[in-house]
Amino acid sequence: MSKVKAAVFASGTGSNFVAMMNCKELACEIVLLVCDKPGASVIEKAKYFGVQTFVLNPKAFNDKREYETEVLRAVREVGAEWIFLAGYMRLIGHTLLNAYEEKILNIHPSLLPSFPGKDAIGQALAAGAEITGVTVHYIDEGMDTGPIIAQKQVKVLPEDTEETLKYRIQKAEHVLYPEVINQVVRKERLWPVE
Ligand code: GRF
Repeated sequence: MSKVKAAVFASGTGSNFVAMMNCKELACEIVLLVCDKPGASVIEKAKYFGVQTFVLNPKAFNDKREYETEVLRAVREVGAEWIFLAGYMRLIGHTLLNAYEEKILNIHPSLLPSFPGKDAIGQALAAGAEITGVTVHYIDEGMDTGPIIAQKQVKVLPEDTEETLKYRIQKAEHVLYPEVINQVVRKERLWPVE
């Protein structure tokens, strides 16, 4: 039986994309990478894995609706039922939210609702947090505000720099995201727990 298809949206390095591709038991097939940053290194990674890429510059469009209409066309064309954001540095607008209601997940490098937005790891260090972590959540129109599905804690060590903490946070992400994707796609998790 063929697997459910999914698209990954990413803007940067793509280590979470690679973690999904390396997960042999992934319950869905990643058929498309959408990237809003021409030149981002995730694009080369997608090519390495033979995943179709759709790279576009949002500045080439008049507004978010026009940009997302183009993205939606590409995602529908490959038959993706799910969208996984993995370092996609852009808020999702109504065009995609309406078309993929409860079908868009994101991963964020903190225990939300703490430290939303950019530089979550720097924020945790600056706040002197002793524990931080990662969160997988559904997307809504806010910045890292959608319903939380799963979290994993990561201890902050006294000697941590942004680099060392980021390393351990990303290790946690690479395990948690494929796990949660599988649970959600297989409907083992129907809706987030409070
Ligand atoms: C991850 O830390 C993710 O939590 C955040 O952006 C980062 C993307 O990293 N949203 P990568 O491109 O997957 O390596």
